[in-house]
Order: sequence, then structure tokens, then C-alpha cells
Amino acid sequence: MTASPLPVADADLTPLNTFGLPARAHRLLALTSVDQLAALAASPEWTLMPRLVLGGGSNLIFSGDFGGTVLKVEIGGRRLVAEDDEAWVVEAGAGESWHEFVRWTLAQGWPGLENLSLIPGTVGAAPIQNIGAYGLEMAERFESLDAMELATGVARVFTAADCAFGYRDSVFKRNPGRRLVTAVRFRLPKHWAPLTRYADVARELEAQGIAQPTALQVSDAVIAIRRRKLPDPALIGNAGSFFKNPVVDAATHARLAAAHPSMPAYLQTDGGVKLAAGWLIEQAGWKGRDLGPVGCYERQALVLVNRGGASGADVRRIAAAIQADVLARFGVQIEPEPVFV
Ligand code: EPU
Repeated sequence: MTASPLPVADADLTPLNTFGLPARAHRLLALTSVDQLAALAASPEWTLMPRLVLGGGSNLIFSGDFGGTVLKVEIGGRRLVAEDDEAWVVEAGAGESWHEFVRWTLAQGWPGLENLSLIPGTVGAAPIQNIGAYGLEMAERFESLDAMELATGVARVFTAADCAFGYRDSVFKRNPGRRLVTAVRFRLPKHWAPLTRYADVARELEAQGIAQPTALQVSDAVIAIRRRKLPDPALIGNAGSFFKNPVVDAATHARLAAAHPSMPAYLQTDGGVKLAAGWLIEQAGWKGRDLGPVGCYERQALVLVNRGGASGADVRRIAAAIQADVLARFGVQIEPEPVFV
């Protein structure tokens, strides 16, 4: 067995969350293998300590210090595990960088994840909130995952049905801290066609004069769009979309559409209508506006950014103010997307 990395006492979590919020952990432990996790779960102190599982820290809002052990998942590895006429099944360790994994699959000639290029975070975090972008959700390419029940140390395989994926949602997000994802498998289609319905993607490819894009070209287009619209967390602290796009009933949509004919809206299969929270927030006058050290990003109103020195309380304050204004103006409640700790 490989030696376990030493835990760090009173660790600074500021560099470990992409919003750059100040927080400390009683103890920080890097998890580099499933064996190490199993040994840890068998130790007597295990059941007593509060735990927080951390991947890339790109979807977390720290409100203060964490008085327990933070498990930083660094389990690596990428490999082809199966192949049939329909698909390649590819597995990655939970600690792998999501974007590097996506680009690696494309370099191997396995398409399917290109629309999800440049999403920050780790492979293990991808299924927690069923990441999605540019017309694709991770769930559509998901095969299965391995996760450990933290209270008992029992590991098991989760199928897509077990994960109960929803829009930016899964059984893991609904039960925070209960399980730790160690590896994820994806089913990448051999009969592939580019997914270019999303307006931004179609426009980008057209501007480049590409009519029949390869998966790599779709990935490059997505990267270009994201770089233009979304702040790079390495330069400006943020957690991606801060609010989920709300789904309203047909009557609410009809009322709003009559008053705002240009409002974007997407009909859902269940009859509900998804609205663009970014549009609602922009119309409510928040785009580009700050409240204290947190701002509503000038190029995409759905993203809140750390202008420098922000705390979790500052994030909560602007989020509550935006929610209240959107509710007052449109009668629609918007909900945060990141997990609050
Ligand atoms: N819009 C505005 N003003 C804004 C932002 C958006 O009017 O400031 C309008 C746009 O013009 C468009 C509509 O809202 O008509 C949708 O905008 P966009 O295509 O930028 O996508 P989004 O709904 O704002 C979602 C995801 C993003 C993902 C993009 C692209 C959520 C919460 N967000 O944003 O995901 O990258 O679609 O698919 O679903 C994330 O989850 O962290 C994330 C970045």
C-alpha cells in the first residue's frame, strides 16, 4: 500500500475554493487511493469526525471555518474499461481534472463530452450536480460510478437510475456528505453526431466557417465561447452559474411572456417552462452591479464574482438581494446552484 499523505492541521481552504472565500479546516487530508479511504473508514476515530468531501472546490460557498476533516479527493487514473459496437466505456478517477479528462478522451478519438469542455472542477464532482452546458448534460454520457458510503466504509456501484439525476441535481447533492465518489465511467458513442443546436455553439462554428465539425472543433468552439462569457476562476473568483434556471408552470410563463415578449423560455418535456435566470437578473438591473466586494458579472449575469476580499456572508448578501429583486419584479423565485458549507 502507498504511504498515506499526512493530514494538515488548521488548513487554509481559501486556495481550495474557486470563489476564493476565506475558511479554515480543523484538518485537511488528501485522498489519493481507494485503499487509503478504506483504511481511514475502518479507523476508530472515523465515525466521530465531521467530514467534508472536496473536489475542485468550484461549486462551494464557504460561510466560515469547518470544524472537522476535509477530504480532498485526488484519486487519479484514466482508462478504457470496455468497448462494443456502440460505445467506448471510459473510466476516470474522481480526482482527475474534468477538462483535462474531456480533452484526453477527444485526443484518443472518443467523442461525446466535447460540449462540456472547460467546466471547472473534477471528474468526481461532475455527477454530483450533473454538470451541463451547450445542450448536453453529463447524465446523457454516464455509464456508472463507484462511491463509498462514508458512515460504513462500504463501496458500491451506482447506475444512472441509482444516481437519480436531475437538472444540476443527483442523489449525492440531495444527501451532502453521505458518500464519496471514487471513480466515474462514461459511455462515449461510436455513432456520433455533433450537438450544435445551442445558439451560441451554432453561431461560433458558423463564424469559423465550419459546417461539419469534428468533436475537437466543437470542443474548441465551446472553449472560445466560455472564455468570452465566463470569468476564469484562476483570475477572478467565482463558482460558475450562481443560480439555477427556474422552471415555471405554463400559466406563469404565459403571464410573463405577454408582458415581456423578448424573454427567453424553453419548454420542458413535462409541460413546465424553463426561464433564463441570467435574463431575469439582467432585467432586474443587476448585471455588472456590485454589493460590497461581490459583483454580478458584467458579461453573464448568472455568475457572481469576487472583486477581492469577499467572505461567505458577502456572497449571501448579494444573492439574497438579487433573489428579492427578481421575485418582486417577475414573481419568480430563483435558487442558488452551489452548495453552501
Ligand atoms: N441571458 C441574458 N443576460 C445574461 C445572461 C443570459 O439575457 O446576463 C440570456 C441569454 O441571452 C440567453 C439565455 O439568457 O437567451 C441563456 O443564456 P446562456 O446561453 O448564457 O446560458 P445560461 O442559461 O445563462 C446555462 C448554464 C451554464 C452553461 C450555459 C451554456 C445553468 C444554471 N447555467 O447558463 O452553466 O454554461 O447554460 O449551456 O444552467 C454552470 O452551471 O456553472 C454554468 C456555467
